[in-house]
Amino acid sequence: MSVAQQLSHVFPLGSRINAAGHLEVGGCDTVELAREFGTPAFVVAEDDLRARARAFVEALRARHDDFDVLFASKAFPCTAVYRVLAEEGLSCDVASGGELSLALRGGFDPARIYLHGNAKSLAELNAAIDAGVGHVVLDGFADIDRLERIAAERGLGTAGGGGAQRVLIRVTPGVAGTTHEKISTGQADSKFGFGVDDARRAIARLRESSSLELVGLHMHIGSQLLALDAFRPAAEVLASLGDFPVYNVGGGLGVAYTAAQEPPSIEQYVDVHVRALHELFGRDKRLLIEPGRALVANSTVTLYTVETVKRNVSTWVGVDGGMSDNLRPMLYGSVYEALFADRPATAGTGERAHVAGKHCESGDVIVRDVPLDDPRPGDVLVTPATGAYGHAMANNYNGIPRPPVIFCKDGDARVVVRRETYDDLAARDVP
Ligand code: LLP
Repeated sequence: MSVAQQLSHVFPLGSRINAAGHLEVGGCDTVELAREFGTPAFVVAEDDLRARARAFVEALRARHDDFDVLFASKAFPCTAVYRVLAEEGLSCDVASGGELSLALRGGFDPARIYLHGNAKSLAELNAAIDAGVGHVVLDGFADIDRLERIAAERGLGTAGGGGAQRVLIRVTPGVAGTTHEKISTGQADSKFGFGVDDARRAIARLRESSSLELVGLHMHIGSQLLALDAFRPAAEVLASLGDFPVYNVGGGLGVAYTAAQEPPSIEQYVDVHVRALHELFGRDKRLLIEPGRALVANSTVTLYTVETVKRNVSTWVGVDGGMSDNLRPMLYGSVYEALFADRPATAGTGERAHVAGKHCESGDVIVRDVPLDDPRPGDVLVTPATGAYGHAMANNYNGIPRPPVIFCKDGDARVVVRRETYDDLAARDVP
């Protein structure tokens, strides 16, 4: 058996154990990366990002003519990631004015940006129109009122004023996928979207609008879905609302955080959506999908340095990051793997320990009850599958500077987000 096979599918594509016995990501030795760039650090295999983007596009191209893949950029909103996914030909979902500004900076054509948000501000709607975003996804009646006013003020949809602003309606179908309650969005009692009856009213109203052009419906029923069975009944609810040229079926495809998890493949996910589209809506429709996590999660590992090993009832391996770079275990009880950069082949062996962060609360535990081979201060500890909602939800609790993002490709490493400094921490303070 080659050593490479000892790494599970949670690691970035192309990761391996190198001749020195170290974990290699994007052709770079992670022990060297920790030495050169410090820890904690997000290490991204650029080729993995590109490969997953291509896999979504190819899976759709093989099954349906008119489609687009939107990067749900909340999962990893940094300029370099936007740039790579724009280069791969994707479109982009932004959930705020801030993500809009990053997407534009990252090179997305405004015409291929979709603005989402359940509580968009007037400023965000104005910024979207100023930028010329292709589509706004309407989430409630206040959205319609405001956007219609803005579009009308600018004469959109009138002779000489430019075309009407294209919009989609987000429908909450009353069908939820199986996932953590905090990331379930399809249920009727949700802050997102229009319920079915309200959607009918919104559709009727938009059909009368000259400044807004309703092109289709949107749904996003939940995130980290490890079963695909809820998509079809949800699509049936959309089908009851009429006939539209465009259907955006959201994101939601779950990923493997641990070796034992086997999420559906990109092909299986796409297949379920394309079948539903063909059977319920027809072959002449435009299909949009909006993956976030499944594009970026497994592209990335986080490197930490072990600062302390404490043994009481349990063994506590204290590292130099924690809930400031990965909130997911605290918010959703998410489970991760951990191994050492200089001896990845020992993964799954050794003393059972908790990997604890350095923050001042007991809940700051990144991985619970994981076997670790003889943990010692100074070890570089690696947690895989941290590309989605890691950098995105990073924060400065306890005055910890946020980690850098390092892109690795063919053995070359480059910093695409620098580490925060203590000066950054005070940068907004008014003396
Ligand atoms: N489209 C919409 C409208 C969304 O709200 C989301 C995610 C997506 C697409 C992308 O979903 P994905 O493919 O990533 O499942 N912070 C949480 C996840 C929140 C998801 C929010 N919306 C986490 O760390 O698990």
